[in-house]
Amino acid sequence: MRSIAVLAGDGIGEEVVREGLKVLETVAAVTGFKYTLEHYPYGAEHYLKTGETFPDSALRAMKDHDAILLGAIGDPRVETGMLERAIIGGVRFGLDLYVNLRPIKLYAEHLCPLKGVTPAQLDLVVVRENTEGAYVGLGGIMKKQTDNEVAICNMVWTRSGTERVIRYGFELAKKRGKAKRVTLVDKANAIRPMDLWTRAFAAVGEEFPEIERDHAYIDAACMWLIKNSDWFDVIVTDNLFGDIITDLGAMLQGGLGIAASGNIHPGKVSMFEPIHGSAPKYKGKNAACPVATVNAVQLMLEYMGDPEGAGLIDKAIASALGKKKIPSLRAGAIPTDECGDILVEEVKAQATAAG
Ligand code: IPM
Ligand code: MN
Repeated sequence: MRSIAVLAGDGIGEEVVREGLKVLETVAAVTGFKYTLEHYPYGAEHYLKTGETFPDSALRAMKDHDAILLGAIGDPRVETGMLERAIIGGVRFGLDLYVNLRPIKLYAEHLCPLKGVTPAQLDLVVVRENTEGAYVGLGGIMKKQTDNEVAICNMVWTRSGTERVIRYGFELAKKRGKAKRVTLVDKANAIRPMDLWTRAFAAVGEEFPEIERDHAYIDAACMWLIKNSDWFDVIVTDNLFGDIITDLGAMLQGGLGIAASGNIHPGKVSMFEPIHGSAPKYKGKNAACPVATVNAVQLMLEYMGDPEGAGLIDKAIASALGKKKIPSLRAGAIPTDECGDILVEEVKAQATAAG
């Protein structure tokens, strides 16, 4: 029996999570995956009512679960980024979820804004370092609101932190068994301390002689993703670069309506979420696209050891998008609940087809 914590959060979070759980229930009935759910209230509403963002007790509670499904965090009534840092950052850092796994996969050709890119040409995974870099919070502002104001933000990389995420990338390339190539994405030409990444990559790469090692600077990587996405298999990169490049990747797959991520510490409780935000203007309108959250459920099942269930979701999404039963991944293209129902039906159809 697996135990899942649900943090629906703010804005459209609740609506997309509801659909994600609907699909999970259907899949579990097919594969025999057994789980329990526990819902937690953290987010803007809870904060405005109680003054509490994400207390230590909440982080401790997360450790009693196998996985966390998160909807979205962020609300215009609360200071910018405060809840995101406390809850998303709190979980990522507090649970040391050092891998941010972000597949970039094109399910149907018409979804890609680039001409002539086929699903076979866009199927890669970004492994974003998730606990270091510019996100550690080391820095600050002095002489605020004066002409001499100074802002400092330190990017921090440790050798061990860099090595462990690079190793995850190599292991993933081995497991995927596709091009068997890992591309390190950095900016070691301009940011010389990133030489630590260069050396860590070379050292860890030695442990995987069967995997090809490749490298691109972040600016060039953005260009290559548009020009020759089929070259990439697994990309390993720093926290901030990974944040940026995966929004670009999301658009290539059809938009933020589909992109999902796993915040993972292998063997420990890990968190799965759509990469989009809380989109407050769509809250309660039954307009948000839940496919990204369903995709997060796919990653969660894979992580919790139900590859059959994950595969069913993958096929269901491919089929629904391929046949345009889900016509678009844009908000408002199809009601949120209807989109979930379509995926439920597709999961059942895929299960029947698989016998
Ligand atoms: C993401 C988001 C977060 C990040 C924000 C909400 C803090 O953009 O998960 O990509 O920058 O990591
Ligand atoms: Mn982001």
